[in-house]
Amino acid sequence: MLALAIANQYITIMHFELSEEQQMIKQAARDFAQNELKPGVIERDEHQKFPTEQIKKLGELGFLGMMVDPKYNGAGMDSISYVLVMEELSKIDASASVVVSVNNSLVCYGLEKYGTEAQKEKYLKPLAAGEQIGAFCLSEPEAGSDATSQHTMAEDKGDYYLLNGTKNWITNGSNASTYLVIAQTHKELKHKGINAFIVEKGMPGFTIGPKENKLGIRGSDTHSLMFNDVKVPKENRIGEDGFGFKFAMSTLEGGRIGIAAQALGIAAGAYELALAYAKERKSFGKPIAEHQAIAFKLADMATQIEAARLLVYKAAWLKDQGLSYTLAGSMAKLFASKVAMDVTIEAVQIHGGYGFVKEYHVERLMRDAKITQIYEGTSEIQQLVISRNILS
Ligand code: CAA
Repeated sequence: MLALAIANQYITIMHFELSEEQQMIKQAARDFAQNELKPGVIERDEHQKFPTEQIKKLGELGFLGMMVDPKYNGAGMDSISYVLVMEELSKIDASASVVVSVNNSLVCYGLEKYGTEAQKEKYLKPLAAGEQIGAFCLSEPEAGSDATSQHTMAEDKGDYYLLNGTKNWITNGSNASTYLVIAQTHKELKHKGINAFIVEKGMPGFTIGPKENKLGIRGSDTHSLMFNDVKVPKENRIGEDGFGFKFAMSTLEGGRIGIAAQALGIAAGAYELALAYAKERKSFGKPIAEHQAIAFKLADMATQIEAARLLVYKAAWLKDQGLSYTLAGSMAKLFASKVAMDVTIEAVQIHGGYGFVKEYHVERLMRDAKITQIYEGTSEIQQLVISRNILS
């Protein structure tokens, strides 16, 4: 009886169809990507131009605070809807989708889950409404994967902290208004002495370095940030004293699902282009899709994408159920980012010479794919998290 009950439970919850609402959200994101992101995406990439207008419109659609409670100006949607949006936007413009990902997964999630009521009122509300965007500042010149080795110092001065140090490769570096900054307060306590702070653009002593000239996601603004005796009010610390490292790790866990969805979208976007091209382009008297060499590539690409999609959706589903998603999120990111690399390379190959020029979009997707194996934890960090999980 018990076995039957358990089996029934699985039968009722293991369904693979999206709800009507999720389908509508997916379609809205797809339309937005086609109508608002596609025009100008090549130019933005070429000139490293931030998609300012497009991000504003995404905010108006509720896509910058998707999972935030409506009482804080969020859209109150689930994580599945979020990954659907990430997937659709990333098919066209990963520079725009990374803004969506950082704002939703790292900044809004971190503030809503761990912030005080006052912090939510002041900072979360405009971020969730899309009136402002946020940045998550963990990486340093000497602390990328080894995130416990924070050199940025936040000295406790009574009613404020004095912040000194440098952060590197910060997404939304110059366009953000609110920065969640991780810093060391009690060096002797190592990661247990780390704190997270809310820092506002314009605070005296806070400067933004030049924009990085990147291989991919060139429309997004990546900067170093410098903090020189920045006075951060005590009420801007997130959580208890020493909670900063756990804050960063917990927040990044959800971030990894967003980036996995971005990788999935990049792969699916390149595949859609390659499929359409292969049906149209003729060689040796027939469409190249009818040559087995191309048809088999397309079969492999479609299979890899479907497998990545299942991992990404499963991780998002686990998060929505309130279940642990550490392992699933890292698996999704590890696998989907590899699929993004492999599929985009094949998409360029299928396009031949056309694939190597900008008008056909696939070379940009191939360049964009690479960052998904690096940010929010490299592939090696995902392997570390997965192996620790399965061996523990
Ligand atoms: N949630 C809560 N707590 C967690 C946690 C999680 N997911 N993962 C670890 N912790 C806690 C552990 O329980 C432990 O706490 P205790 O000491 O109390 O037991 C503490 O954190 C230290 O954990 P570890 O011993 O596992 O730490 P580690 O140094 O061995 O390994 C790591 C941690 C997995 C390597 C981690 O440093 C890591 O994920 N590094 C990669 C950092 C990263 O992803 N950077 C991306 C930059 S952000 C970015 O890219 C954003 C952007 O702009 C797009």
